[in-house]
Amino acid sequence: MLSQWWRDAVVYQVYPRSFADGSGDGTGDFAGALARLPYLADLGVEAVWFSPFYPSPLADGGYDVADYCDVDPRFGTLADFDAFVAAAAGHGIRVIVDIVPNHCSSAHPAFQAALEAGPGSPERDLFIFRDQPNNWQSIFGGPAWTQVADGQWYLHLFDSSQPDWNWRNPAVPAMFEKVIRFWLDRGVAGLRVDVAHGLFKDPDLPDVPDPAPSDRPSPWFHRPELIGHYASWRAILDSYSPDVFPGERTAVGEFWGTEITHLEPYFRPGGMPQAFNFFLFQTAWDAAALRHTITTSIGLAAESDVVAPWVISNHDVVRPVTRYGGGPLAARDLDVDVALGTRRARAAALLLLALPGSAYVYQGEELGLPEVIDIPDAFRDDPVFHRTGGARLGRDGCRVPIPWSGASKPYGFTEAESTWLPQPTTWGPLTVEAQQADPGSTLNLYKRAIAARPRGGGFAWLDRGDDVIAFTRGDGFTCVVNLSAETLPVEGEVILASGPLEGGLPQDTAVWLRS
Ligand code: GLC
Repeated sequence: MLSQWWRDAVVYQVYPRSFADGSGDGTGDFAGALARLPYLADLGVEAVWFSPFYPSPLADGGYDVADYCDVDPRFGTLADFDAFVAAAAGHGIRVIVDIVPNHCSSAHPAFQAALEAGPGSPERDLFIFRDQPNNWQSIFGGPAWTQVADGQWYLHLFDSSQPDWNWRNPAVPAMFEKVIRFWLDRGVAGLRVDVAHGLFKDPDLPDVPDPAPSDRPSPWFHRPELIGHYASWRAILDSYSPDVFPGERTAVGEFWGTEITHLEPYFRPGGMPQAFNFFLFQTAWDAAALRHTITTSIGLAAESDVVAPWVISNHDVVRPVTRYGGGPLAARDLDVDVALGTRRARAAALLLLALPGSAYVYQGEELGLPEVIDIPDAFRDDPVFHRTGGARLGRDGCRVPIPWSGASKPYGFTEAESTWLPQPTTWGPLTVEAQQADPGSTLNLYKRAIAARPRGGGFAWLDRGDDVIAFTRGDGFTCVVNLSAETLPVEGEVILASGPLEGGLPQDTAVWLRS
């Protein structure tokens, strides 16, 4: 295999609004990201995935795309994007862009034309317009249909500002083929495909007995047409530089399911090269549950050439420190034990980076940032918060701008006085600057783990007790995560530990050993 770099890579997710601001307006951008490229190189990541930076009203943080082939002026220009790709390549870092094929923004010219053209027009057929809605609900809360001035309704699985494309109209796949070629031609190494289990809907648009949105197979998710569709994208990816680097270009699908079996269809050869494995972060901090998840995940990938990158965090979920320190973020009055959450999140990092295959790290995860749960309502931006009347807090708490340096806000993120989402006053000790100076920091743990992680080699479970996760990776490398209350003996030469080894391996601590 010449260069299927993505089989075994650590990929860093940048949420552009919140990574680094170069223009001084309080919102992140490409100039800021370029200036922080040495940080990413030092961290040792092999690729950067950018969440959307395209022209957008930002009704859903950019996942509402108004033009798939440009850069929103708030983030810079196409030239800034090219400059980032070129500079990143100089550090051996590849770039992955986010393709959003399920829906666009209502500001997209095609949707505006569809509104203008009226019922029955070819323009409307690019979207899903009907005279009557069905009973489907939006994933963000409320109905999945919105009525327009002439009485018709359009489908939007997400916000009303995100109309779903009609993938059964051949003009839609044809348009997206141009979009992916546009970015591949610009030198990107891969695509992250948003809501990859969406796109095709049951043509009958049937009412469902339980209209509550779910990631189960349904008339709107996991339709069989996706398999052939992704095979066609795979052929495009593989057509790039086939003689030099076969399989150099990649794509990773955002496939959510409620059962791991829901992902089975995507593991047939010849489709999407990678399918995110979200089951690790959906699993409680419980050894038996984690073992089950890891076993089933590895089993799924083992019979296939599809890679399922491991994830404990991204821009849609509660940050690990908070999740492991207080449970799921359902309410505002969360009783979070940040010290406990931090200890577990650090142990989870060594688990993540020891598992076979590739791993994605979401910006700020390497700093051990907690979820910000007390953002004032007036600043909340996520449509999930607004569409549920605040019943669901939404995802702003994991999207707060990164603290880079200094003891007070905005912690070197921007030259402006404030950031687009307010930062907490307590992040001084969590800045990159503070953590670089502390050998025991979470940042230094990630950096050392990325450098020392096992590559290749098999995977085999070791039995160290019910509440212990222990496995080997090839000869001589062992990972042990102690979830039991007892301190365990440490047998072997320590490569790295997620916390102090006080007379052994304490609870909620992980160690990598060379034997
Ligand atoms: C994906 C994105 C999420 C977005 C949604 C709708 O799940 O990760 O941030 O809100 O799609 O585009």
